[in-house]
Parts: sequence; C-alpha cells; structure tokens
Amino acid sequence: MKKDTKVIRAGHSKKRNGGVVNTPVYHASTVVFDTVAEMRETVPRGLNGEKVLAYGRFGTPTHWTLEEAITELAGGADTILTPSGVAACALAIVGSVKAGDHVLVSDSAYEPTRKLCDGLLKDFGVETGYYDPCAGAGIAALLRPNTALVFCESPGSHTFEVQDIPAIAKAAHAHGAKVAVDNTWASPVFCRPLDLGADISIEAGTKYLCGHSDAVIGAVTATAHALPGLRRAVLALGYAVGPDDVFLTTRGLRTLAVRLARHQENAMKLALWLQTRPEVKRVLYPALPGDPGHAIWKRDFQGASGLMGVLLHRTSPAAVAAMIDGMKLFALGFSWGGFESLIAPSAPKTIRTAVPWTESEPGLRLHVGLEDPDDLIADLERGFARLAAALPA
Ligand SMILES: Cc1ncc(COP(=O)(O)O)c(C=O)c1O
Repeated sequence: MKKDTKVIRAGHSKKRNGGVVNTPVYHASTVVFDTVAEMRETVPRGLNGEKVLAYGRFGTPTHWTLEEAITELAGGADTILTPSGVAACALAIVGSVKAGDHVLVSDSAYEPTRKLCDGLLKDFGVETGYYDPCAGAGIAALLRPNTALVFCESPGSHTFEVQDIPAIAKAAHAHGAKVAVDNTWASPVFCRPLDLGADISIEAGTKYLCGHSDAVIGAVTATAHALPGLRRAVLALGYAVGPDDVFLTTRGLRTLAVRLARHQENAMKLALWLQTRPEVKRVLYPALPGDPGHAIWKRDFQGASGLMGVLLHRTSPAAVAAMIDGMKLFALGFSWGGFESLIAPSAPKTIRTAVPWTESEPGLRLHVGLEDPDDLIADLERGFARLAAALPA
C-alpha cells in the first residue's frame, strides 16, 4: 500500500468495530471477568502489551486502533501511546537506561528532554552528554562503554539541523547503544527513523498526528529489541492516555497525508518568499536547496512539514514583539502541527551547550498552516513593516 492509502486504512479493523468506520470511544477503567481462571489468563497478557481487554490503563480498542495505525505507518514491532509528546521523549529515555549509564542527547533537542536528563536522570545516576546535531558518524568519538542511548531530534524544532541517522545508528549499534529519534517535525508520513536504523521513533502526536490543536498525546514506536524496556517503564510509571484524546488523534490521522501535502506546499511558498525579504538573513527549512541539511533531508525524508525558522538581519525583542503582536492570521501560541498558522519569537542560544548558537536573537519560528498562502504572505508583509518601524533607524 502507498502511504496515502495506509493513512486511511492503517489500524482499521472491521472485525473490531463491527463495520463502524471509526473505533468508538471506550471509557474504561474496570474490565470484569467471568471466572478467576479467565482473569489469571488475561491480565498477564495485558501487562505484556497484548491487545486484550484486561484493565483500562493497559488500553482498549480505542487505543489499539491508533497504536496499530501508527505502527503500520512508522514500522517497528509496536507503538506505546503516552499522555504527551514530552512523556514520549521521557519514556524513550527512561525505558532504555539504568543507573551508571550514559546518554548522548542532540544539542538541538526539545528543552524539556534536556531538563529530564539534567534533573531527574542525573539524580538517579544517569549521566548525559550533549553533542553536535551534525556530528553524523563523528558521534563514535563521544560514545563510551556505558553509553546506552543516543537521542536525536531531526530536524531540531528550533534550529532545524537534519541529523544523519543511518551514520549515528551504525556507530551507536557498534557500541551496543540504542538510538531514539524525535520524529515530530516529519511525522511517519515524511520520515521513518526505524527504516534509517533507529530503534525508537517518537511522535508528539499533539502536533501533526492530531492536527487540530485539541488533544495532547504522544507515541513511541520501537523495534522488538527496544520494546521490552519501554513496556517495563510505562507500567512502572503508570502512563495512561484518555480515550477522547486517542479518538481525536485517530480521526486527525486519517487526513494527515493531505494536510501535510498542503502544509508543505504553503510552507515552501512562504519560505521562497521569505528568502526575498531584505529583513531575512536565512530561512531554516531543510526542503530549501541551499539549506545545510538539504542533502540528508532529500536522502532520508519524503517531504517537509510546515515548521520553519527565520533568522533576521536586524532584530530586538521589542521589534519582534511589535511584529508578532499585530499579526491577524499568524497566532501566537505554543505547540504547532495544527491546521492554523502560528508565529513565535525563537531564541535557542541559552539552551545550547555543545555547539553555541551564534545567530542574533530573537528570530522567528513559523508554523505554516492550511490557510491561503497569499493571505499569510500579506500578514507577514504587514508584520515586517511593524518590525522595521520598531528598530532604530
Ligand atoms: C519536537 C517536539 N517534541 C516533543 C514536544 C512535546 O510535545 P507535547 O507538547 O505534546 O508534550 C514538542 C512540543 O512542542 C516538540 O516540538
């Protein structure tokens, strides 16, 4: 099946749903059994991740539909749903390490992941090192005998470096370390990290999978080799995902391919227009031929989503605020991946520790939504006039 068909069909089970297209929302905690023998037989299977009704926290058909759909799209042995994207990143790490281990995290990684590593994990005796997202095969020099996991985010959701996952995976596996990739920017429609050699693929489903800015959810898809550690952690931590958020995400997933195609078309149009603007120093968008990550993106990805960075020649916090505060279509808010366009100041400098970010800040981060791109360009054009007016002559 081609991807566009897979997105529609994946996880769908006529047997399970009795002909109803969308799996109903099961609100469940208690599942009752007819006999003690049935309970004794069923519960261990549920604990083991089998898709049987054993207890609400282990999942219901509502969850299985989405889990199976994501696994079909992303590859791998199975998918574990998590209560948020941050929870998915945390699970990938916590489920892969023990005290005394060392983790390598890309300097481009989403900030809360760094907080987990520098806080709780450190307290529990796990050491973290940060590496240049562009290290590629050079990661080998940073791997130690106790390195258990290399964590990647590709492209970085603020700085947009595209990572050489096959090279990183080759080096990591030679040292016995696993590789996890936060694949939220591309979604499994535009990139399959497990096919590139990663062991764990992470999605903040809150973004494109859901796509409508009304659910918070995450997903971790893993190979059979990486899955047992993740299952152990998810049971110990007691993660459970509310069925309404799961339903909304499955519903959103069915239009993921068409939404992403339009995000990509709009984003490319805006990126090319932004490159012509005198205020813009550089557009951080790997689909642009001049982007430093373009060659790897072209090799490993099947498309580009709607999220990009914009570096400015002249900037100040007040001028960027003047630009953003007056936007009519680009809304100011956290998260991205919904149908709507968003804009926010971007200032990654203070987060980086391995490779300093030397660009002038703040820049902009845009999520290009599904509106008419000409309307979005007009909104940005007025915004650039406000930016210029707020900068010293
Ligand atoms: C790349 C990336 N990963 C993970 C997350 C976390 O997702 P959530 O907000 O669902 O916890 C985000 C959120 O912005 C993100 O941008």
